[in-house]
Formats: sequence, structure tokens, C-alpha cells
Amino acid sequence: MKIVVTGGAGFIGSNFVRYLYRERPSWHIAVYDKLTYAGDKRNLEGLDGDRVHLIEADICDEQKIDRAVADCDMVVHFAAESHNDNSLHSPWPFVETNLVGTFRILEAVRKHNKRLHHVSTDEVYGDLALDDPAKFTPDTPYNPSSPYSSTKAGSDLLVRAWVRSFGIQATISNCSNNYGPYQHVEKFIPRQITEILDGRRPKLYGSGENVRDWIHTEDHSSGVLAIVEHGRSGETYLIGANGEKSNKEVVELILELMGKDPKDYECVNDRPGHDLRYAIDTTTLHDELGWSPIYTDFRRGLSKTIDWYRQNESWWRLQKAETEAKYQEIGR
Ligand code: NAD
Ligand code: TYD
Repeated sequence: MKIVVTGGAGFIGSNFVRYLYRERPSWHIAVYDKLTYAGDKRNLEGLDGDRVHLIEADICDEQKIDRAVADCDMVVHFAAESHNDNSLHSPWPFVETNLVGTFRILEAVRKHNKRLHHVSTDEVYGDLALDDPAKFTPDTPYNPSSPYSSTKAGSDLLVRAWVRSFGIQATISNCSNNYGPYQHVEKFIPRQITEILDGRRPKLYGSGENVRDWIHTEDHSSGVLAIVEHGRSGETYLIGANGEKSNKEVVELILELMGKDPKDYECVNDRPGHDLRYAIDTTTLHDELGWSPIYTDFRRGLSKTIDWYRQNESWWRLQKAETEAKYQEIGR
């Protein structure tokens, strides 16, 4: 099996590459990544070059993506602009990579008749009220709020159209919020951990009541592999780990696990259009493919993640000052 993993030098993509490397030792992995600010070659350090190789290129580059797809059996597509706050400040790269880039991949997959798995987010469904008993299912209507989630929603719809109109072999997964090693310090959990390590207070947007449904990235990887190997073409699968927590609860737990006063955080300006709550119903993935998460204890997963950031300061230190300077500009 020769597999192309787009975005394989980013947070979730590189964790997936490491997972595959371990779980499928006979597979050859081509990481296709532009190495934007969010991609890092160091995320692939220690992997044998005979089994994993990096193609440093843009998914919007028609010829390069065509060549990479022609030369593989399957594509797993993680590459994206992925941060909501950046999408509010500067939406164009989101339109370009998430929409045009996915279009280029679809055309290459169609031309060379290759299997595609498209990785997406639960944010395409919009948000839920805090007291709504409902969760997202594959039938929930799309209702995205931000340039990030709307371009991801558009990319999912492109995939569905290519399945129906051109008969390509493709599956889609929509996963909830991931945490774990190698996540960029612009994102919520690594930002708070590294703020505390730097002697500052964690920063909650608004009142901190917004809820996210957390899943360890290792569980996201096992879900994607289950779909890649056993999913039905044309289907959408939701991946989640029953990990609903308010942002305030998460910050308080991080502070406690790091030996600080759980109330020692500050509330900063809220994000415009801030989605209130996400929650995933994973019945299909569980019943159809027998998948279930390993990291069911959020406290344990978070504690391991804190240890990783403690032990890998040289990894995040380079990004930290620039990231905080950007947040300072927007008052968050
Ligand atoms: P990330 O920002 O950490 O990584 C994105 C990777 O894509 C980087 O390596 C970057 O260099 C690469 N990339 C960006 N533009 C590219 C382009 N034009 N051509 C080639 N490579 C390009 O993102 P992430 O958090 O790892 O998310 C990966 C995927 O998972 C995304 O599709 C995202 O929508 C989805 N997802 C993320 C979450 C989450 O909690 N982070 C949850 C559900 C789904
Ligand atoms: P984020 O990691 O940006 O993911 P997403 O917007 O895709 O859910 O943010 C997760 C939640 O944390 C979201 O409700 C915004 C909030 N947040 C803060 O409260 N403080 C922060 O410093 C950041 C980056 C996010």
C-alpha cells in the first residue's frame, strides 16, 4: 500500500503518520505538505526515510498533486488552513487551500481512479445550544459560522458531488476538537499550557462557557484508519469521544494538573461569531465499524499532553512569541 497523506507534517496529520507507521509497517507513506507556519519537518523526526518521505508542495499545485496521486494507491487528505481566529483575520488562504486545494485533489483522484479519504470537522454543522439534548449526526444540516468552517463545509460538499457525479471512491470524516502532542501553540489547550509554563495566566474567551467535545488525536487516527480500511464509499462518519467540556472546565483542570490555583485565569475579548457548543454522536462509527476511543479519561490524556509540552519546549518555543504577538494585536 502506497498512501499519500496531505498535511502530514501538521498536528493531526503527523500524529496519523506516526500511528500508521506503527500499526501498518508494510505501508509506504508519502507526506505531501506545503510546510506553512503550521507544518514542521520535526514532527516526522525519527521515522525511517525508506518508509516515509516528504513531498514539500502545495495541494493547489495542479501538476505536483497530480503526480503524487498518480504514484499512490490512496490519498488521506488532512491539509487545510485550520485555525478559526486566523480565518477571521485573513480568510483568503482558507478559501484557497480548503476549497481550491480540495478541488485539485478531487480532480487528480478522479483522473487516476484512486481512493480518497477526506478529513473534516464537526464545525461544518454550526453550533448547538448549551441545553440542547441533541448531538451532531451525519444527517445534521450544514450550518457553518466562520470562514474556516464554511470552507471546510464547502470542501465536504465538493467531495460528495464528485462521488455522486463522477463516481469517485471517497469517504468523509467529521471529527470533534483534537488535543495531544505536536499541536500548534495558537490552539486553545497548548496555548494555555505554554502560557502557564511561561509564568502567565491562561486566557479564556468571553465567559468560558463555550463547550467543545475533546478527543485525543490518537483516537482520531484510529478512527480514520478504520474508515480508510472498512468504510463504505460515499459515507460520512463522525468521530468523537464523548468529551464535552466547557472551556472554563478545561482551563481549571490544566491549572490544577500544573499545580496552580484553578481560578488563576483571565477572561479576554470573545471571538466574533464564537460557536457555543459542539457535540458528536458516534453511533455509526461504533455500530458499523466497531470503533471506540482509547482515551476515555480526559484527565489522563490532558496530563500526558501537559507532560509532552513540558518535555518539548524546544519544539514550541520557536512559535510562541510570534503567536502571542498576533493575539496581542487582536486583544485576545
Ligand atoms: P494544522 O494546521 O496543524 O496542519 C495543517 C497542515 O496542512 C500543516 O502541516 C500545513 O503545512 C499543511 N498545509 C496547509 N496548507 C497546505 C497546502 N496548501 N498544501 C499542502 N499542505 C498544506 O491542522 P490540524 O489541526 O492538524 O488539522 C488537520 C485536518 O484535520 C484539517 O483538515 C482540519 O480541518 C481537520 N480537523 C481538525 C481538528 C482539530 O481539532 N484541530 C478537528 C477536526 C478536524
Ligand atoms: P480552538 O483551539 O481555537 O478550536 P476551535 O475554535 O476550532 O474550537 O478553540 C477551542 C475553544 O477555546 C474555542 O471555544 C475558543 C476557546 N479559546 C479560548 O477560550 N482561549 C484561547 O486562547 C483560545 C486560542 C481559544
